[in-house]
Amino acid sequence: MGRGTASDGGPVAPDGSPVGLYRAFPAGREPEVIHGAVPRGAPILELGCGAGRITHELTALGHHVVAVDQSAAMLAHVRTATRVHADIETLALPDRFPAVVLAGYLVNTIVPGQRDAFLDTCHRHVTDDGLVLVQRTSPTWAAALEAGHTVRSGPMVVTITEARLEGGVLHAAQECRHGDTTWTHAWTDVVHADEEFEKIAEAAGFTLARWLDRDREWAVLRPLPH
Ligand SMILES: C[S@@+](CC[C@H](N)C(=O)[O-])C[C@H]1O[C@@H](n2cnc3c(N)ncnc32)[C@H](O)[C@@H]1O
Repeated sequence: MGRGTASDGGPVAPDGSPVGLYRAFPAGREPEVIHGAVPRGAPILELGCGAGRITHELTALGHHVVAVDQSAAMLAHVRTATRVHADIETLALPDRFPAVVLAGYLVNTIVPGQRDAFLDTCHRHVTDDGLVLVQRTSPTWAAALEAGHTVRSGPMVVTITEARLEGGVLHAAQECRHGDTTWTHAWTDVVHADEEFEKIAEAAGFTLARWLDRDREWAVLRPLPH
């Protein structure tokens, strides 16, 4: 859950994500990380797809994507996937998928009950031999985040304006500039240590199969046998 603003008056999703920011933000390494972890051409259920930043790259890589978001303003920009306007928590599609993606650090939500509801949705929609890819806030990244730090991501200039890690909760904010537009986005994440994350996954009916990156931001979960 967060808060966002857009200097051009553009829309902000209910979770605080400015739509224009996630449209303009480069896709980065995420599509390749996902593509490299799932079977070639596997259909993907993407939860919290935003404006299609990752979606469009995944479809270009040969995946049929069912893209879910609660923000109609975000979904309006998703071109190449099957769009589903829904809350992740209550999603009940008739199909199950060999790959389910929960990106965008949604698993770190501070809203009571929401994390488990997100993971239940992943469980309901993954095939018995499928996998769930979760992008979480890495504890090492959270600990290293510093206010005042500026990074360039493609044409976007991102300045961290707040970074406080207190009692396992990260309070962070960024200001992002692209051309004449500036967006702000503040968010609060519950940061889970590795062992804690593994326990959360197990309680949700998964086993942690492996981490996909050195920062341990991307986890591969497999459903436990029923
Ligand atoms: C930070 S954006 C990231 C979007 C995309 N994953 C990306 O990386 O570009 C988070 C997205 O998740 C969506 N979202 C947040 N909570 C949601 C929920 N409970 N149900 C459906 N969508 C949700 C928001 O509307 C937003 O589009």
